[in-house]
Amino acid sequence: MVSFDEVMNIISVNKKVFTPNLTSKLSFEIAIKKIKNNSKVLDLGCGSGIIAIGVLKNKKNVKLYCSDSSDYACRLTERNFKNNILTAEIKKGNLFSPWRNKKFDYIINDVSGISRLIAKKSPWFNSFVPCQTGNDGTKLTLRIINQCKKFLSSNGTLQLPLISLSNKNRIIDEAKKNFEKVKIQSTNDWFLPKNMEKYNMYLDKIKSKGYIDFSRKFDRIVCNTSILTCTKIKK
Ligand SMILES: C[S@@+](CC[C@H](N)C(=O)[O-])C[C@H]1O[C@@H](n2cnc3c(N)ncnc32)[C@H](O)[C@@H]1O
Repeated sequence: MVSFDEVMNIISVNKKVFTPNLTSKLSFEIAIKKIKNNSKVLDLGCGSGIIAIGVLKNKKNVKLYCSDSSDYACRLTERNFKNNILTAEIKKGNLFSPWRNKKFDYIINDVSGISRLIAKKSPWFNSFVPCQTGNDGTKLTLRIINQCKKFLSSNGTLQLPLISLSNKNRIIDEAKKNFEKVKIQSTNDWFLPKNMEKYNMYLDKIKSKGYIDFSRKFDRIVCNTSILTCTKIKK
């Protein structure tokens, strides 16, 4: 198996594009476990192309499609594919807009999915990386769950991250409304970066509004990320 760290070593990143983080790694790990050979896979919110390249390095005969609303991200994905002598169809556009009339066997959604209030204060997002996710972080994910049905083949799977810096319950409820089978494939706890702890009171305030959730341990803030798969679209 080619590991996430090995894929990190063969791609370039830059400050105008999202730098792969734990959510990228967890998404990659479930994707390579679940994706079958010979399938058509969409990496939605591809950033640097890390997940798509990781999938191609580990799977045979998979056809990759990548898109992102950021021009910087699409150009970097193109470059990373080219440098590794790999191919994919790479398109710029909002959510599914580049993929009219296309069907995929597996959609890896990794479009921005944390509260926009947190994104602004975090090390992960900057003015180049869009995070128009609403106060509770669910705006884009809820749209993806609703719109993906047109783009999934009949036995297709939608994979998405559930990050506690968003309203996870809203996402799970929407997934269950739209799919017969909704399964948490992995869950990992992680500490919020130390340099965000200065926002302690603000974090408590938005937690009390139900926008985000976290706990405290050893004086640190603990968040978590799960990876969800959704199959069997409800008629
Ligand atoms: C959390 S980053 C993940 C990037 C990459 N998958 C990774 O793991 O490094 C989210 C990505 O979603 C993209 N994005 C944000 N809003 C979007 C939208 N409305 N449509 C498509 N992509 C979007 C951002 O540009 C960013 O590259």
